[in-house]
Amino acid sequence: MTDDLVRLEDYAPAAYTVTHTDLVFHLHPSATQVEARLQLVRQGSSDTMQFNGVGLTLKSIAVDGKPLAAEQYHYADDMLVVSGLPERCELHTVVTIDPSANTALEGLYMSNGMYCTQCEAEGFRRITFFPDRPDVLSRYTVTLWAEQAAYPLLLANGNLVAEGKEGTQHWAKWEDPYPKPSYLFAVVAGDLACLASSYTTAEGRDVALKIYAEERDLPKLEHAMASLKASMAWDEKVYGLSYDLDLYMVVAVSHFNLGAMENKGLNIFNTACVLAHQDTTTDQGFQRVEAVIGHEYFHNWSGNRVTCRDWFQLSLKEGFTVFREQRFCEDSNDAAVKRVEDVKLLKATQFPEDQGPLAHPVLPSSYRDIDNFYTATTYEKGAELVRMQWELLGEEAFLRGADLFFTRFDGQAVTVEDFIACMEEAGGRSLQQFKRWYTQAGTPHLTVTDSYAEGVYTLTVTQHTAPTPGQPHKAPYVIPLRMALLDGNGAPVALDEAGSEECVWEITEGTESRSWALAEKPTPSLLRRFSAPVALHYDYSVAQLVALVQNDTDGYVRWEAAQQLYHRAIVDNDTALVEPLVALAQQLLAEAKGQEALTALLLQLPSVNELGAALNPVDYHALHARRQALAAAMGKALVPAWQACVLPADKAAYAVDVARVGRRDLQRVALQYLTAAEAEGLDAQLQRLYEQADNMTERADALRLLWHQQGVGAEAMLAAAYTAALPEPLVMDMWFAVQATRPAADTVEQVAALLQHEQFEWTSPNRVRAVLGQFGQHNPVAFHREDGAGYALWCEGVARLDVLNPQMAARLLSAVMGIQRLPSPQRQLLVQHLEQLGQGKLSKQSRDVLTQLLAPAA
Ligand code: PHE
Ligand code: ZN
Repeated sequence: MTDDLVRLEDYAPAAYTVTHTDLVFHLHPSATQVEARLQLVRQGSSDTMQFNGVGLTLKSIAVDGKPLAAEQYHYADDMLVVSGLPERCELHTVVTIDPSANTALEGLYMSNGMYCTQCEAEGFRRITFFPDRPDVLSRYTVTLWAEQAAYPLLLANGNLVAEGKEGTQHWAKWEDPYPKPSYLFAVVAGDLACLASSYTTAEGRDVALKIYAEERDLPKLEHAMASLKASMAWDEKVYGLSYDLDLYMVVAVSHFNLGAMENKGLNIFNTACVLAHQDTTTDQGFQRVEAVIGHEYFHNWSGNRVTCRDWFQLSLKEGFTVFREQRFCEDSNDAAVKRVEDVKLLKATQFPEDQGPLAHPVLPSSYRDIDNFYTATTYEKGAELVRMQWELLGEEAFLRGADLFFTRFDGQAVTVEDFIACMEEAGGRSLQQFKRWYTQAGTPHLTVTDSYAEGVYTLTVTQHTAPTPGQPHKAPYVIPLRMALLDGNGAPVALDEAGSEECVWEITEGTESRSWALAEKPTPSLLRRFSAPVALHYDYSVAQLVALVQNDTDGYVRWEAAQQLYHRAIVDNDTALVEPLVALAQQLLAEAKGQEALTALLLQLPSVNELGAALNPVDYHALHARRQALAAAMGKALVPAWQACVLPADKAAYAVDVARVGRRDLQRVALQYLTAAEAEGLDAQLQRLYEQADNMTERADALRLLWHQQGVGAEAMLAAAYTAALPEPLVMDMWFAVQATRPAADTVEQVAALLQHEQFEWTSPNRVRAVLGQFGQHNPVAFHREDGAGYALWCEGVARLDVLNPQMAARLLSAVMGIQRLPSPQRQLLVQHLEQLGQGKLSKQSRDVLTQLLAPAA
């Protein structure tokens, strides 16, 4: 087997750079012609240049107008090699490609009759020959030709500079004044409607904003537009960064492998991340649109103006941009609630990754397939690493560091190292040890003990990180531990002479202690705001945990304390906790007014996945049963209080604001408890909610609860929901997902039937995620069925998908990383099915994931 490992240490600049790229597309569904003129300039001493090219049919090739003879170039193994090139020259190629056959959704493809592109990370090479690497920055001119009737709209990056017509065809010429890497290239051609608006920058420049979607989705674009304007204003206010072109376009496409893509001036979005309307979108959906619109917009600086030197630096743009997106959403929603939601996501997705066979550093030193590095580690942990620098430097110095970074490296392709150097300079401090966070994989465990004697309180902290594949030994990290000490009344005590009630203890050693002179032994409030991505262990008493949930001023600490109580009650099966939990819930409900969203988070029992995330072995069936029992007990004990959270039918008009979303969140949690308690009349109540709701959030809640419980009228409600979903693909996705997530053994058979359903489409990533993705990731009870039927079905699905869309298949596969922690017989069964999958034909991406999953534990 050839070693196709790409190594960071092997980085070398390309032999030639491409100063200008001129492309002419003659769009045709099965035979699109792409003509490229690349202006090449030698960068070193070699006169041989490599151009990536995948699946291209080469029609002609010339240098400076002279066709190349067969011996002057070589195209094999996805690489075109041309030798004997002058110092400056023009490479002219003509290729044809087949967008209609492109089900992998990388490069140029068709979605619902329109053309669109996805080039990150390595899709541009499926369009034309090019040094398809992020450190080759080029100015692009793009001319698109297409049939005018079918494709009245022709879009590319930058500004429209000319257009015309010839017979039934028309053309448009676009020019992007900013040099960019090929992964930010985009074109779109189709028949789309547009919501247009404008934004005036802080410098007083008018920017046209255009969001494109199918005509029928036009009424669903207002929220995205408002979010875009809010993002633009936020980046100006906080980072002093304005938009730099006269036009910003967003296009909604129904077939898309991930969430959205930040192509310069022409973002392409999964419809799920841009369309929002109360009739079709849940509150969570609305929040996702705001977050993703912000994320892609913020990339215009963190990613586009300053880009990555190579794909090892992926987190330079993704970690930083997720952090920027998180802070934006904290500012526009409830900051504490948003922080808890982000931590929840990190713990549910990244912590397991860090513990399993796919663990990798945020800055990896090698990879086989870059597509497999679009992970929770690169994104969410990457964001936490940026956040820690913000914690260590403080907001003001951090923002100066960011400013330095954008000023110094504008128009360049740089490294994580460059980013940290700017933070060191602005902060006036070293971050050398801090860099270990980027190069070591694994979640540090922080064990905290304390003692109190003769008026002195001492905290001792020990950090330990378990080995990960390829990294047996870990050096200690710099850990910003934000903390407070609470007195018997739950009030913070002064930590120093200045009277500070909170501090950031910067831990650098394996073990460290710190002491305070105090009149009584306090309760430590640790890792406030989740100031570092670590697993914290401190042996709190139940009374202390209850007090933290009740009194702490830090939302994260309150939530974490509640989680610990639930874990003890469910995982340790400590039934003595039911009574204090009921009392706690009663009090939280009594005080919920004005803080419903946080209350909902505090009352929500951890999911079976969250409960099992750190267990070895993990018995999902037992966890599910005990979780249900606790929910039933807490539900039964407080029926009137839960009922009081159910909103009156004559509510004020629907709106997505902090207060109203919070009330619906709390209603959802209350209905979950009431359902678990099998409260009297609940089925009818859920039916009324479904029928009377004026929004998708409540309808989806009613449907999910009634269907998962198989309550009276569940079948009829599901049928009604199907009819309602027919004209709305995103609602249909939810209809599939509700069924794929019902926690019961026979869901396996139901999922098998769903895969045969006439509305199921293997070529639609959203639909596949709704069924196979939801089943594999959010239905541990059915997926881990003891006879292995869930695994068999799922593996067959992955194999089938892999032929069409390897990137999606590999992503689905990477979700089963908990393998080593499964009990018998599930573990052997899953391994067996995965091995069987490996015996068939598999894509490079899926093979890469499978090999890691099945590797013997390090
Ligand atoms: N760069 C995109 C984002 O995070 C993600 C993406 C990667 C989308 C690769 C498609 C393909 O904003
Ligand atoms: Zn991104």
